Amino acid sequence: MGRVRRYAILSDIHANIEALEAVLRDIDTQRIDDIVCLGDVVGYNAAPVECIRRIRSLGCRTVKGNHDHYCSSPEVNLDDFQPNAASVIAWTRRMLGDDDMAWLHNLPMQLTYMGFTMVHSTLDCPASFRYAFEPEDAADSFNCQRSRVCFHGHTHVPCIFYRPAGGDRNDIRLFGPADGKLESGNYFINVGSVGQPRDGNSEACYAIFTMDGMTDLSIAFRRVDYDLETAVQRIETAGLPERLATRLYKGV
Ligand SMILES: [Fe+2]
Repeated sequence: MGRVRRYAILSDIHANIEALEAVLRDIDTQRIDDIVCLGDVVGYNAAPVECIRRIRSLGCRTVKGNHDHYCSSPEVNLDDFQPNAASVIAWTRRMLGDDDMAWLHNLPMQLTYMGFTMVHSTLDCPASFRYAFEPEDAADSFNCQRSRVCFHGHTHVPCIFYRPAGGDRNDIRLFGPADGKLESGNYFINVGSVGQPRDGNSEACYAIFTMDGMTDLSIAFRRVDYDLETAVQRIETAGLPERLATRLYKGV
């Protein structure tokens, strides 16, 4: 039996340094071997540079989210974006120096690490940033998944998609973020959002994946209270849209 290893899986930090620091403090209490990040380090909130620097200082494996892409790709035209999103992307581009911009731009779209896979959206077309809300949204991703477990983010709603061993696209089931041991079969697990949760709970969300060898696997979801007032104050000081502050309180 291999040594038990515990991974903290973070996603959608979205330039919320208060939420990120609170999650890292919680991780310190959880006997974690390594941290990985599923992208959207920036966007929406007002501490993009601080979050990039913190993630880079951890040296954790990170894949690229859609906001990481938009904010580090000045050639992407923002005319078709929703106005609030466009204004924050433009503001974030102005905040980032060349080195942080290059780091974001060069993030990979997907990674396989220690036997599990990481992607921001779905594995079938990672650069299209499709949303997986329903079982049929996850079907094509499962067909591209070579590892037993793949972690993703993007919707900011923690959940578990499960395809039983030998099952096909009609057998995929969707569960809420329940803690426990994984069954045989494949999992496509959304770890929720650190910096802008959208499941009605304002607390920062992340997941802990425990591997006891390659077959005894389990998942646990963590919720962490953080200094929301300071995050909101940053948004106001930066002159970012007010809705970005109110949605943090509501967790939407
Ligand atoms: Fe996101």
